[in-house]
Amino acid sequence: MKVKQTTQDLEKYKGDMLVYFVHQQNKKVPACDNKLVQDTMKLAFKAGDFSGREGEILLFYPSGKGKLQAKRILVVGLVMAEETAAINGVAAADVWRENYRKAGGRVSETALKTKAEKILIVVPEPFILEKQDEVECLTEGLILGAYQFKKYKKTKEEDDPGASIAEIQIFTEKAEKNILQGLNRGRIAALSACAARDMANEPGNVWTPASFAEFGRKLARTYKLNCKVLSKTDMLRLKMGGILGVNSGSAQPPKMVILEYKTANRNPTLLLVGKGLTFDSGGISLKPPKGMEEMKFDMCGGAAVLGLMQAVGEEKPKGINVVAVVPATENLPGPSALKPGDIITIYGGKTVEVLNTDAEGRLILADALAYGIKQYKPRAVIDLATLTGAVVIGLGHHRTGLLSNNDELARQVMAAGDRSGEPLWRLPLGPEYSKQIKSTVADIKNIGNRSAGTITAAAFLQEFVGDTPWAHLDIAGTAYNFTEKSYVPNKAPSGIGVRTLLELIRNWK
Ligand code: BES
Ligand code: MN
Ligand code: ZN
Repeated sequence: MKVKQTTQDLEKYKGDMLVYFVHQQNKKVPACDNKLVQDTMKLAFKAGDFSGREGEILLFYPSGKGKLQAKRILVVGLVMAEETAAINGVAAADVWRENYRKAGGRVSETALKTKAEKILIVVPEPFILEKQDEVECLTEGLILGAYQFKKYKKTKEEDDPGASIAEIQIFTEKAEKNILQGLNRGRIAALSACAARDMANEPGNVWTPASFAEFGRKLARTYKLNCKVLSKTDMLRLKMGGILGVNSGSAQPPKMVILEYKTANRNPTLLLVGKGLTFDSGGISLKPPKGMEEMKFDMCGGAAVLGLMQAVGEEKPKGINVVAVVPATENLPGPSALKPGDIITIYGGKTVEVLNTDAEGRLILADALAYGIKQYKPRAVIDLATLTGAVVIGLGHHRTGLLSNNDELARQVMAAGDRSGEPLWRLPLGPEYSKQIKSTVADIKNIGNRSAGTITAAAFLQEFVGDTPWAHLDIAGTAYNFTEKSYVPNKAPSGIGVRTLLELIRNWK
């Protein structure tokens, strides 16, 4: 799909769909400066079908004899201009960024349904946001909303949506440089999130630890990054008992994929760690069959940090080094699998009593965090993981769980999430929670008791980050089945985390 800027004459546009956005007006017909659109909208308003509310659309087919030549006209509603109510402390500008993403998503959704392949978008007049930001967010919504994963659908079905969107043109009166910049920012962010969705959508028999390694190497070639892949032999030498233990029931060798984006030694390094569990059966502590197939998504944290590295490769941010580490393995039962009661040693020497082999994410992350911090001495470390079912009970599918040992880092991550439409909510840490994972036979154990499952999982990770400012994002509820919105596929992987991390890096101080 191509997305480009245009200043061509709207009235002469002969493509599949011409799109306008309008603000809902208090009990009045919304305003549009095109007469045909205004007149049609008036009829639809009178009929009670369209008031310009968010989520509403008006689709019509001009005769072609009038002033507009496009095959279809789509009018998309935005919320009332006055209505910018901030909730949970979210700034009005962030609410509007999300409005434009949703509006963009609505356009793509409609285009796919109607089989429109060529689209022209008329960018609305600035309101709260600068035009550049409107374009950025619209572009993000358009691309994310156009995403489909149909690779394994070999036979066409009746209700299949249209082929795909071929071209989107973004219309503004003048071709300004900052508008093009907005478009590029939106495009990079969205395509990187789509890359993460692609990885996550691949089934467990296709996307293995070796696939993470291949993808890392491909990114390194494309963007001149540095890629290292630790093999099982390396892990044995380095005494990474966490990932080796989890891997011991699997026929697929484990990989630790490391991607480095380096500007200069004097610049601070941000370390990112993503859980790359390509299938989590639970191991000997086997999960029940119902819904187990969803555990092919247990690698979404790893997909997010590699997706982010694609964006970093595209944008080449200044003044920061970024290192991504993805510990990748399956978690399967078998004659050599890890067993409840086993004691393992994590990289660096801490011992762990394994009481439940299904609490495996923290074991592989422990090795990755300890190793990454030792190697790169980062200014800050952020990990992303589909770590606990408990976070879904606590926050549902609407917010990512955030746990951190550093208030300033936590604040920055929260702000980046709000700006990206990927909201987080912070949960506490503390000695009273860490006490729950003390073991009688080893340094720590890998489960607490039933209470505060998301916090004790984070408390476990905290054992391996020392004093480094650290933020943990538990994305179990948001990596797939994410809150319903036009630009996020239903049930399928959302690509969560990519855009939040990118926003954080863009504003890094
Ligand atoms: N990958 C799961 C967490 C998960 C659950 C992700 C549901 C997405 C949806 C993780 O490895 C796991 O199994 N966690 C256990 C921990 C428990 C044994 C302490 C859980 O949350 O049940
Ligand atoms: Mn598990
Ligand atoms: Zn898991």
